[in-house]
Amino acid sequence: MSVDIEVIAQEIEREANVVTDSASLEVLRIKYVGKKGILSEILSRLGDLPSEQKPIVGKRANELKNKIINFIKEKESEFKSAVKETAKFDITLPGTDYPVGQLHPLTQVTEEICDIFTKIGFKICESPEIETEFNNFTALNIPLEHPSRDVFDTFYLKSQERLLLRSHTSPGQVRVMKQYQPPLAVVVPGKVYRPDAVDASHSFMFHQVEGFLVDEEIKFSDLKGVLTYFCRQFFGQDIKMRFRPHFFPFTEPSAEVDISCIICKGKGCSVCGKKGWLEILGAGMIHPNVFKAVGYPKDKYTGFAFGMGVERICMLKYGISDIRLFFENDLRFLKQF
Ligand code: PHE
Repeated sequence: MSVDIEVIAQEIEREANVVTDSASLEVLRIKYVGKKGILSEILSRLGDLPSEQKPIVGKRANELKNKIINFIKEKESEFKSAVKETAKFDITLPGTDYPVGQLHPLTQVTEEICDIFTKIGFKICESPEIETEFNNFTALNIPLEHPSRDVFDTFYLKSQERLLLRSHTSPGQVRVMKQYQPPLAVVVPGKVYRPDAVDASHSFMFHQVEGFLVDEEIKFSDLKGVLTYFCRQFFGQDIKMRFRPHFFPFTEPSAEVDISCIICKGKGCSVCGKKGWLEILGAGMIHPNVFKAVGYPKDKYTGFAFGMGVERICMLKYGISDIRLFFENDLRFLKQF
């Protein structure tokens, strides 16, 4: 027996070049490296060859066998991924329907409140939730050890600098005024914290929107005008308002603002506790000590400030009776807004 291994090598080369699919690949495999394939035969019968051919043919046949096996492996994975590619781009398959979410009701109401104020020229500023004792209290005319600090019961952080979680958004006033000179018209929305026991109307974290306006001749009537505009925009044109005298250390005079009950229109119901009125915000003329604390010149500016609780307003607007619903993330509740 004598074998021209190079002729076979050329043959293999030519046939491999025309392999286009798994079927022609399988034909090639059987023909050369199958049990009775050409290369397998040659290798099993090396002993029949003349002794000078044995090492040359043996070495070359093994090389070709390995080459074919590698070629088959390569082609197989090429064909497989081609199959996957076409499956990936099957444009006849129906598309996947993703459910569309929506903003949390508190986010919606916060945005609605801020929009009403930005329409008349207020700017929105955010302020940090971790505050200094100075910004949260001292600069707001609430001195250390003063009993009014108890009203704004506070979470203190475990640090030497007496940092705390802000108990209201009023320190936002301080931060903005420290940085900018009047005229200023700003709203500060955000989270506030108070260590209250959680029940249907209390939460240790809730949201407020603070607002303030400072210029050279701002009067209490400007405050009334802006808040009347806000309440009519938010609750409806026929809403009635009343300003009750109140006390806040950082405003003088101070007031609490009520609107006629949006459920019973002032007749008296369970939501307003038969009073016909709902308290919705605190407000007043900014105390001169606050201007002093932020470094404004004496007697140059006047201004008003107000603060409202977003949860409370949202509960009134939608007739929600339990504040905890906002934070439980039950989709059956959230999907209603
Ligand atoms: N910071 C007050 C509170 O949390 C609300 C308020 C803001 C009152 C601004 C007057 C002026 O109750």
